[in-house]
Amino acid sequence: MKDFLIVYSSKTGNTEKIAKALYTAAEERCDIATVHSAAATEKYKVIFAGYWVDKGEPDKEAQKFLQTLTEKKIVLFQTLGAEAESDHGVSAFANTGKYLNRRCKVIGTLSIRGAIDPKLIKGMLKMPPGHPHAPTEESKKRWLDASTHPDEYDIKKAESYMRKFIAFYDRFY
Ligand SMILES: Cc1cc2nc3c(=O)[nH]c(=O)nc-3n(C[C@H](O)[C@H](O)[C@H](O)COP(=O)(O)O)c2cc1C
Repeated sequence: MKDFLIVYSSKTGNTEKIAKALYTAAEERCDIATVHSAAATEKYKVIFAGYWVDKGEPDKEAQKFLQTLTEKKIVLFQTLGAEAESDHGVSAFANTGKYLNRRCKVIGTLSIRGAIDPKLIKGMLKMPPGHPHAPTEESKKRWLDASTHPDEYDIKKAESYMRKFIAFYDRFY
C-alpha cells in the first residue's frame, strides 16, 4: 500500500518534470498519475497536487481535480513563469485554496520556476504598447530568466523536498 499519490497537470512539460522528480525521490512510497488519469484518491494518505500557474491561479484541469478532494492532506506544488518564491507565487497558492474543500488540509507547498510557452511569448510580443501584457524590458528579462527552468537545481530541489517531507511525515503523522 502506497502512502502518497502525485497527481499533476502539465501543458508544456515543466510540472511533469517536477512531478517525476518527486516521484523518483519518494521511491516505493508513492504512485503518480496525470489529472486525466487520476486513480481513486481515497486510499492514499497524502495527495501531492501539481499544477501550472495560469493567470495567477491553478490551471483549469487542476482546478477540476482539486475540487474532487475531500478530507485529504495535500501538498501543493506549482510551476510558474515568475520567480518561484515571489509574491505572485504565494498568491497563486492562496488562490488554489479556493478550489479545496474546507475539510482538506494543506501540509506543504513547493514552488518551482518554469519556462513560458514560446507561443505565448510570441503573442505577447505582438501586443501594442499600453496593453497589460505588452512587452517591457522587465517582462522580457523575466521571460528570459524563466526560459532555462526547471533546471538541474530545480529538479534537485524537488527531490530534496520529497525526502525532507517523508522524514517530516513519518515523525509527525
Ligand atoms: C495561458 C498561460 C497563462 C500563464 N499565466 C501565468 C501567470 O499568471 N503567472 C506566472 O507566473 N506564469 C504564468 N504562466 C507560465 C506557466 O505557469 C509556466 O510556464 C509553467 O511552468 C507551465 O507549466 P507546464 O509546462 O507544466 O505546462 C502562464 C502560461 C500560460 C500558457
